[in-house]
Order: sequence, then C-alpha cells, then structure tokens
Amino acid sequence: MTEHTDPNRLRLGVNIDHVATVRNARGGAYPDPLRAAKLAEDAGADGITAHLREDRRHISDADIDGLMEVLSVPLNFEMAATDEMQAIALRHKPHAVCIVPERREERTTEGGLEVAREENRLAHFIAPLREAGCRVSIFIAAERRQIEAAHRIGAEVIELHTGSYCDAVAEGRTEEAAVELARLRDMATFGHGLGLELHAGHGLTFDSVAPVAALPELRELNIGHFLIGEAIFRGLSPAIAEMRRVMDDARATHTDRGVA
Ligand code: PXP
Repeated sequence: MTEHTDPNRLRLGVNIDHVATVRNARGGAYPDPLRAAKLAEDAGADGITAHLREDRRHISDADIDGLMEVLSVPLNFEMAATDEMQAIALRHKPHAVCIVPERREERTTEGGLEVAREENRLAHFIAPLREAGCRVSIFIAAERRQIEAAHRIGAEVIELHTGSYCDAVAEGRTEEAAVELARLRDMATFGHGLGLELHAGHGLTFDSVAPVAALPELRELNIGHFLIGEAIFRGLSPAIAEMRRVMDDARATHTDRGVA
C-alpha cells in the first residue's frame, strides 16, 4: 500500500502562521509564508493550514490569495465564524475550512469553539460553506456536548483541541497528561462513532505527539508553532520530516488498533 492509499495513514497539516508572525515583526516580505508552504509540501506535509485572524496579526489576505494559487496540497483555511471570513472563504473555496473561536486579546486560540451555545447560528453559518464544496471542520474541546452539537449542525470534521494535554506534558504534570490523553481518546472514539472525521491539534511537539498520533480514529494532525520554532535549529524540512517520522512510528506500533 502506498502512503496515500493507506487508510491508516495520519495526515500532517503544517500550519505556517508563525512564518508570517516573524515576517510581520519587521513589516517586510521575508520570511515568506508561501515559500515555507512549498517547502513543507516537499518535506511531506499533506496539507497547509493558515489562520486568517480578524486582526491580521500573522497571515494576510494576500497570503491566502497566494496559497490558493501555489499550493498542490489542500489548504485548510482557519477562520472565525464572522461574515467577513465567510465571504473570503466563499470567494476562495479552499479544500477545508476550520471554524475556530477568536478573541482579540488572546495570544493563540485558547479554547475550542462553544458550538453547543451557538448551535443555531453556526448551523446557518456553515451551510453555505458546505454547499460551496468546502469540508467544514469545527475546532472544539474534547467534550461530549460539543461533539454532539458539531454533529448536529452538520460538520463533517471535528478537530480536537490538544492544548491542555500538551501543556501538561510540557510542564511534567504526568497524571494530568494521562487524564487529558484519555479524554482525547474517549472523545475521538465517541466522535468517530457519530460518523465524524477526527482531527487534532494545538501545541503538539516531538515530546507530545506520539500518544496522540497513535489514536486510531484520528485522520489528521495540524501542527505549527513548534515546527516553525524547531526550523530555527534544524531547518523546516528536517523538522517536518522528523515530525512525520515520529507520527508514522507511533501509528505503526498501533496498526492492530486501526479503524475503518
Ligand atoms: N489547529 C487549530 C485549529 C489551531 O487554531 C492551531 C493554532 O493556530 C493549530 C492547530 C496549531 O497549533 P500550534 O501552532 O500550537 O501547533
């Protein structure tokens, strides 16, 4: 089986937001996120993820235009559930749209989307995106009520927020990391049982990725900040290749647990 026909293969989406963060620190043209995206493709990324934030703190509208033009792999367009972002998504019709919560004062996407609280609005919000042919993914905490709500509003994909698990790993809180991992595992099984495609991401590193990659229901991980940081030391392509290797190794040791 080739890597792309293997149903057990875990896709790696490389988030290039923080290449744009570094560029914007000086306001010039480099480092160029498009160049990073092409390099990531060559290094084995299955997709490129970019978050066009309302305040444009990293990715710009021109970056999205450029990505749509140059990419050979799918673009996963992350955005808040606003009219402005919906119009941009409908203009570009990227392969996937991932709806994330956004607060101006936050440093990064701190929690998952409160789907349960906004079910009606979100159902109406994602309908045109689905009709336009975009795969709609909802970024949520690994909680049953959020997963049920995401399913009810018609999302095809959910992305589970791995931030709490990753923080626990990074800070050596082993017991909490185990609890968070168990939550991710249980909720991945639950979501898969509802027929949803499962993705995960936020804060993943070489130290935290393997147990998540081994969860058989997951189809895709989206990883950005750590990879871009690691690129300073070993280069972007080797950092991505190593992440790919760690993910594949974790997956290979759990092939007996594969799900259809
Ligand atoms: N997935 C989603 C939905 C995100 O919002 C982010 C961060 O923008 C990521 C994955 C990647 O997180 P990180 O940059 O911490 O790897």
